[in-house]
Amino acid sequence: MAFMRNKWIKIIIIVFVAMVLYSLLPLVSFYFVKGASKNDNNQNALSELESNKGVYFSFIVFGDNHAGLCFNDAAAIKEIWHMNREDRHGKSPIDFVLNVGDVSLDGSRRDFQNYKKLQTLIKYPLISAIGNHDKPGLFKEFCGKKEFTFVNRNSYFIVLDNEVGELSEKQFEFLEEKLKAGQKYDNIFVAMHKPPFDPYQQEWYNMDTSPWAFRFRKLCAEYNVRMVFTGHKHMFKSEKFDGVENIVTGGGGMLIEIPEADGGYLHYVRVMVNHDYVTYEVRKVSPPFWEYVTYYFWKEMVYRVRNFLGNGYISGNDVKKVPLRVKDLNDREYWMIKK
Ligand SMILES: [Fe+2]
Repeated sequence: MAFMRNKWIKIIIIVFVAMVLYSLLPLVSFYFVKGASKNDNNQNALSELESNKGVYFSFIVFGDNHAGLCFNDAAAIKEIWHMNREDRHGKSPIDFVLNVGDVSLDGSRRDFQNYKKLQTLIKYPLISAIGNHDKPGLFKEFCGKKEFTFVNRNSYFIVLDNEVGELSEKQFEFLEEKLKAGQKYDNIFVAMHKPPFDPYQQEWYNMDTSPWAFRFRKLCAEYNVRMVFTGHKHMFKSEKFDGVENIVTGGGGMLIEIPEADGGYLHYVRVMVNHDYVTYEVRKVSPPFWEYVTYYFWKEMVYRVRNFLGNGYISGNDVKKVPLRVKDLNDREYWMIKK
């Protein structure tokens, strides 16, 4: 019996090691990928959209891939593999991929070179906004302009630079002028790095009481912006302000520290446009197996223990359920589970 048990343990270990090694292969081959040309920047991506016509299309939004760390790149490679399959069956064209910033780990030249390698893997035009980790000089060199507008089919897009945290008076003037210009289109979308609200509690990032955040949200509502895309917090969150959908999509690759139950998971967002209807789907992507084994499994374990002790998740589904003893109108007692 002991012989049989040993045999099975060996098989399990071999399968486990094989799975870990297999999941590392895309990362290994990534180091031989040649990066996209510096000319393949925002300006170039926009020129590729000019001939798009019609009122049905999709695009992909992701953020905070933080290229330059093997954990981040491996996760981004896996996300890109899924993105590239989004237009299979040819039902709806994916016109472009929009990155809402923090394209680099910490703004070094090597990080940007890694980002250009990721760009090679993406089969759609790539448009990038600047994040607070992206050094402006290098961003310009590798990704091109950082504040601009563009038209794709029936929709108008405004990309802003708020890597410093808020928008200046000059930027508000630019924004309002462009929002006016966008009124003749079916949909207006705004993208920038930092959200104009607090997507997660117990964090240093506090925008809910910032004057610029109030002004920005009101302006978006006044000019009927359809959606605002941001990142910065490494999670998914969506919230509506005056009817304007604000989507935080910061799960593009960076190691995520927020618990999964609160939105801390790898993902990208696919947005579908049909005339003036706009819907979206969150595409959750599981980490590569080796990354799950070395990081994500343990991250969740820590929160599970913290949750058991009463201070883990904030808003997730796994939040502790509290049974209540209640009475109905006929005075019958029963237990009710309250989240
Ligand atoms: Fe980030």
